[in-house]
Amino acid sequence: PAPGWAIEADVVVVGSGVAGLTAALRCAAAGRRTVIVTKARLDDGSTRWAQGGIAAALGEGDSPEQHLADTLVAGAGVCDERAVRTLVTEGPAAVRRLIALGATFDTTPDGGLSLTREGGHHRRRIAHAGGDATGAEISRALVAAVRSAGIETVENALALDLLKDVNGRAAGVTLHVMGEGRHDGVGAVRAPAVVLATGGMGQVYSSTTNPAVATGDGVALALRAGAEVSDLEFVQFHPTPLFLGPQAEGQQPLISEAVRGEGAHLVDAAGVRFMLGAHELAELAPRDVVAKAITRRMAEQGTDHMFLDARHFGAAMWERRFPTILATCRSHGIDPVTEPIPVAPAAHHASGGVRTDLAGRTTVPGLYACGETACTGVHGANRLASNSLLEGLVFAERIAEAVVADAPAAGEPVIPPPATGGPGLLPPEARLTIQRLMTTGAGVLRSAASLAGAAAALDALTCDDDRKPAEPGADTWETANLRLVARVLVSVAQSRAETRGCHWRDDHPERNDARGRCHQIAALRASAE
Ligand code: SIN
Repeated sequence: PAPGWAIEADVVVVGSGVAGLTAALRCAAAGRRTVIVTKARLDDGSTRWAQGGIAAALGEGDSPEQHLADTLVAGAGVCDERAVRTLVTEGPAAVRRLIALGATFDTTPDGGLSLTREGGHHRRRIAHAGGDATGAEISRALVAAVRSAGIETVENALALDLLKDVNGRAAGVTLHVMGEGRHDGVGAVRAPAVVLATGGMGQVYSSTTNPAVATGDGVALALRAGAEVSDLEFVQFHPTPLFLGPQAEGQQPLISEAVRGEGAHLVDAAGVRFMLGAHELAELAPRDVVAKAITRRMAEQGTDHMFLDARHFGAAMWERRFPTILATCRSHGIDPVTEPIPVAPAAHHASGGVRTDLAGRTTVPGLYACGETACTGVHGANRLASNSLLEGLVFAERIAEAVVADAPAAGEPVIPPPATGGPGLLPPEARLTIQRLMTTGAGVLRSAASLAGAAAALDALTCDDDRKPAEPGADTWETANLRLVARVLVSVAQSRAETRGCHWRDDHPERNDARGRCHQIAALRASAE
């Protein structure tokens, strides 16, 4: 659809989690006219839900080298070592800058940062806030900073497509805005630098820790714009979201890995600690190892959940260290002080995304990506716990430097083809179908047969010739985005005929180093979709 109104800017940042807000603050501080557009309210993305914390080599005896080593092990041979080195060496100072900006982290009695452990970390290096409300505190501090810097924001704005000039450079984005006064309906922000920071795509699956807004919009927009995406097959499933019953769908409450970091045990239906002997780090093995062990044990015992037992923490520790989780469990009728918590894996984090260099540049000039939307190469085949808030922070700062250094310029935007306004639109009811197809076909366990079934069913979903075309609207565009990212995810998962990191193939249970250590890159060519 043609934009009905336009805002002019130097930089438009799409998304308002740790990555988007940090990028916007830095661009604005460098004197660039910056506009933030976000699909719901400024603090509605995944950042707010992060519990465990932010990983950085901040503790005595720790070092970026050790953080690097743990990250590379988790990433199972697919990390880009230069990107990881950038993350771990620039991380500690970036966290200190976040603290200077106003984020308050938990401290020890002597005033140092209180650090915890999570899976795959050989050191205590996870800084946390409010016990288990780290993301909420980071989001609060960044939103306050954005407001006091007076950065223009447009909320309730779903980014639809990239505007490009005649030379194919980014020239802004088109938006569908709902109920925001003078910026209502379909409009545009025209800017020669576009930063995608829309978060993840957990809503591709039936059950996820991600909020409802995580529908892969940035990756879908980038694909339609011809940018390369990479590593989409590596979807991380969190081992211990709260299990709310076999019918539970959508966002599931997280039980942070930090609960295991502080000593909680995973037990099966018979009360047996099954991670002992499964890995040298037991419950603190990397996340894929724990999620697989839980899934295997559930299959063996014919059940749909396991238990996390932290009764030995006692009420005082639960209240002090994990107040959010305690309240959430109790609101669902479970008291972790007196009973084990039922848990089951759910989709959690996209390790892949829009392919970028070390400064967040995508393969389309003027288009940048950061945070969960991006694939910087730091996560490889499996993200190390609590590295994602850090990635958002470090690479957003680098993007701002790149935007200033690149000084992108764009000509007049040409109106984009109505990629999301045409026959690709899907009715909102199709969302449930996509989620169920992906959960059974491309979930924790995959095989050539399950992936082929998902691919065929997803393809069939676009054949709307005998159906009434879906009306353009935020929900139909979101559903189209979900289908697009799901289809590309399935396609690269089909090509990865091995088990690696969080990608687990039933029919190829071994890792194949002869052909596996690579990024799988995908792009839509022209309007092939
Ligand atoms: C958690 O708190 O378990 C989540 C941490 C993360 O996903 O990095």
